[in-house]
Amino acid sequence: MKSFSRRSFLQNAGKLATVAGISSIPMVKTIAAASTTNKVSAADKIRVGLIGCNNMGWVNLKEHVVLPGVECIALCDVDDAVLNKRAAELLALTGSKAALYKDFRKLLENKDIDAVIIATPDHWHCLNTVYAMQAGKDVFVEKPLANSIEECNIMVAAAKRYGRVVQVGQWQRSGPHWQSAIDYVHSGQLGKISHVKNWLYYSGFKEIKPLADGAAPVGVDYDLWLGPAPKQPFNANRFHGKWRYFWDYGGGIMTDWGVHLLDMAFAGTQSTYPKSVMSTGGKFSFPQSAMQTPDTQFTTYDFEDYVVSWEHVTGSTPGLYGNNYCGVAFVGSNGTLVVDREKWRLFPEVANGQYLLAAVPEQRGSGNDLALHVKNFIECIKTRGKTACDIETARNVAVNSQIGNIAMRTGRKLYWDNAANSFINDKEANQFIKPDYRGQWKLPKI
Ligand SMILES: NC(=O)c1ccc[n+]([C@@H]2O[C@H](COP(=O)([O-])OP(=O)(O)OC[C@H]3O[C@@H](n4cnc5c(N)ncnc54)[C@H](O)[C@@H]3O)[C@@H](O)[C@H]2O)c1
Repeated sequence: MKSFSRRSFLQNAGKLATVAGISSIPMVKTIAAASTTNKVSAADKIRVGLIGCNNMGWVNLKEHVVLPGVECIALCDVDDAVLNKRAAELLALTGSKAALYKDFRKLLENKDIDAVIIATPDHWHCLNTVYAMQAGKDVFVEKPLANSIEECNIMVAAAKRYGRVVQVGQWQRSGPHWQSAIDYVHSGQLGKISHVKNWLYYSGFKEIKPLADGAAPVGVDYDLWLGPAPKQPFNANRFHGKWRYFWDYGGGIMTDWGVHLLDMAFAGTQSTYPKSVMSTGGKFSFPQSAMQTPDTQFTTYDFEDYVVSWEHVTGSTPGLYGNNYCGVAFVGSNGTLVVDREKWRLFPEVANGQYLLAAVPEQRGSGNDLALHVKNFIECIKTRGKTACDIETARNVAVNSQIGNIAMRTGRKLYWDNAANSFINDKEANQFIKPDYRGQWKLPKI
């Protein structure tokens, strides 16, 4: 009889999960399951590799390797300085030496790796993710799902075709206080919801002083950093961390932060795609900044029965509703629920001297939402269940953020037809759907 290997189980089980039609797990239940997870047996290790080690990749990895049975056996980065630093830190943290790679395609050839964490700039997510799935790996990929609508579509198709477990880094999906806020919204107690307001007031954001182009630092494979993006001379402003403010690599704050908060707005209202979208913005706080994407932007989504809005403002300290820098407000006829990364609160309406909502004490967050999100991913690798932030959910909000940016870039009200995967009667807007990949890099055909 053929011996059963856990690895082949992991590699094939996705197909079974798809065939068996494992159904969608509502947001709250997914996490409840994750929080009752039993300990992993030592013989049942999950071996992960990290692609893109500088900032969020390392944050994610640390949450993986603290879990019982999870081991990091490979690191990949196109920058030797980052790679070597993280290798030393991993050794100090876990006592394990990881195999080091500069080219992620080589890492994916390593058959001992069960799952990869992808925290490269957004223009890489599609190729990293699809190649990883084709190599039989499960994937934890950072948000936003990708830097274009078409790449999101390809990634969803690939997850279906290859039957891999995918968790996207929108970790609010695993936050208990976010879930209880969403539950409260679903309870209907807020009355008729007319508006869901999402914001980021980002005081830490500073002007990006223009810098001359120059040589890439020694040890950086800049061509591989660019990958499918257009060829451009190296500029430190478009490199680590700041790439997100340049259209070839990211979508600015609208996609960077928008996906986190709009995801919660859509979870509350159970929205998918709006009838229309409008957006306006520009470099209004820092007109001299080198960034291409707007530092100030207002986007509105018309869902016919209610409006969802996004706003980001940089260089300003106070958030809205006396809250911290970011948040979501569900505005209903009986009151408003305001939730941010720390807590949620109610602001009841008053009629005839009576509050229209029963008092609910302030609900505090766990402070470890990312840890819960990672735990959920590892659990789903074993059960082949649906993750807290599955790829379709991530596509929904990534596409909404992208259409917000496209509305701003075209300066028009746009009508997105999701079934047709295009804007209605708008040639110019439709040109933003699909990126032009450079040279050897091709959009994967699934
Ligand atoms: N979920 C969250 O809360 C959160 C927070 C921050 C960032 N992020 C996301 O994480 C991702 C990374 O952001 P960051 O702030 O860490 O960026 P970063 O620029 O600090 O790090 C990206 C790393 O990827 C490396 N890289 C680039 N191309 C590569 C390739 N082809 N192969 C291997 N390595 C490559 C870079 O050299 C760099 O070390 C982005 O998608 C971002 O949106 C998510």
